[in-house]
Parts: sequence; structure tokens; C-alpha cells
Amino acid sequence: MLPFKKWFGSKLNSEELISRLDTDNIPNHVAVIMDGNGRWAQKRGLPRVAGHHSGMKNVKKITMAADAIGINILTMYAFSTENWKRPKEEVEYLMKLPLEFFPKEIDELIANNVQIRMTGWQEGLPDYTLKAIQDAIDQTKHNSGLILNFALNYGSRKEMLSGVQQLARDIADGIVTADAVDDAVFSRYLLTHPLPDPDLLIRTSGELRISNFMLWQLAYSELWFTELCWPEFTEQHFYEAVQEYQRRARRYGGL
Ligand code: IPE
Ligand code: IPE
Ligand code: MG
Repeated sequence: MLPFKKWFGSKLNSEELISRLDTDNIPNHVAVIMDGNGRWAQKRGLPRVAGHHSGMKNVKKITMAADAIGINILTMYAFSTENWKRPKEEVEYLMKLPLEFFPKEIDELIANNVQIRMTGWQEGLPDYTLKAIQDAIDQTKHNSGLILNFALNYGSRKEMLSGVQQLARDIADGIVTADAVDDAVFSRYLLTHPLPDPDLLIRTSGELRISNFMLWQLAYSELWFTELCWPEFTEQHFYEAVQEYQRRARRYGGL
């Protein structure tokens, strides 16, 4: 293996980068906060939505990169419960992206045995957005390869609050006892159930925050940030993140 400094930021191609990874230590679940689309566009004198379009095209590329090294679950944060605060035109544009993305990419996703999933609230999403996603979920539900999970209309506090409300109802109904509520039981009340927690979180755009994403699930995830905006984030950067993940010692509070 090359020393970190020489390796990092080098111009190695994907195959060379893959060959440097430890195949016994590939993260099972990688989550990505795909941020910086708007700034990427604005830096180029383009409207913010051009950044969203470019960002959409990048999803397939990174999905294939993840699949190529045996990652099992890739969660992409596409729209938060707070993103409804944005101008109506931008929200509408974002809601129409699945109508372009899935028809264009579904054949290749199916050919690669990818399963589409969604984590988030259906309520509030336009019917056409939901239909595009539901069709993709249905078309890929018998696939057994990489799970490409879109966090769409997702927010972690809302997820935990509705989980707690349901848990309180189940305790009142005698379905669960309060004393039996442990990590595993609580996890069943979250939208991400039955997916395992992310091993690695990647956030693009230079923001060093979590923005209400998987607050419970990220408790022991390795965090990796880059200044790059999402549309300029390549397979090579993705493999750099995985390489860095493999350098970390995950201790979970132990020694
Ligand atoms: C991420 O890019 C995509 C969504 C949040 C939908 P942004 O739209 O947040 O881009 P910036 O952060 O404003 O540059
Ligand atoms: C997080 O990005 C949400 C998504 C990438 C979908 P934001 O752009 O919404 O986050 P903040 O507002 O900078 O925290
Ligand atoms: Mg942003």
C-alpha cells in the first residue's frame, strides 16, 4: 500500500484505487449527504437547479462505484423534511428528478441487480414523484444486489418522534413493555428498519454538520467530509473515502 500522503489526491484510476483497498474491510452500509449542488451551479454562473440535474447524474456513477467494491447498502440523502422551506420552483424541480432518473437508469440498475428502496415519508410528496419511485422499487424488488436507498422527505427528529409516539402506543396496548425497550427494540420503530446502521457517512460541500440525518443510526459511524460539491465528486473520491475508512480503528467505546 502507498503511504497515505502519496496516495491521497493522486491521479490513480478507479481500478488502481480499488486494488489498494482491503477487500476484508469494505463498509457494509455507506450513507451520503449529497450536498453542494446549488453552490456548484452558482460558481459556474448556472441556476441552482442545473446543479441538481448534474447531481442526479452523479448518483448512478457512485452507485456503480459502490457496487464494484461490494458495498451492500448505499443510502443517498436526496431531500430532507427541512428542504420544503426552499423556493417552490426549486422544490418542484427536485420532485421531478425521479421521473427523469429512474426511466433513464432503471435498465442498467436492473442489469446490475440493484434494489431500489426509499426511507422517508410518503405523505407530502407529489403523486408523480411517489409513482416514479414506487415503480422503481417494484421493478427491482426481486433483485438481490446492492440496496440503493433514497432518503427522501426524511428527517431524523421527525423519525424519532414518530417512533417514540408509536412505541408509547404499543406500550399502552401491552405489545411491548417499557423495560424491554433496548437499542434493537427502539431501532424497529425507525424508518430505516431493518437496514443496519451506516458504517461510513460521506458529506460533500464542506459543511461539517449532520443536518438532521440519521441521528440515532450514525452513533458509531465513521464520518468523512470533503470540500467538493456533490456534482464534482467522482468514483476516485468515493474510493478515497473508503480507503480512509479502512485506516480508522472503530472502538465503540472499547479499547
Ligand atoms: C444538495 O445540494 C441537494 C439538496 C439538499 C436537495 P443543495 O441544494 O443543498 O446545494 P447547496 O448546499 O445550496 O450548495
Ligand atoms: C442536507 O443538505 C440535505 C440533503 C443533502 C438532502 P442541506 O443543504 O439541506 O443542509 P443544510 O441546510 O446546509 O444544513
Ligand atoms: Mg446544501
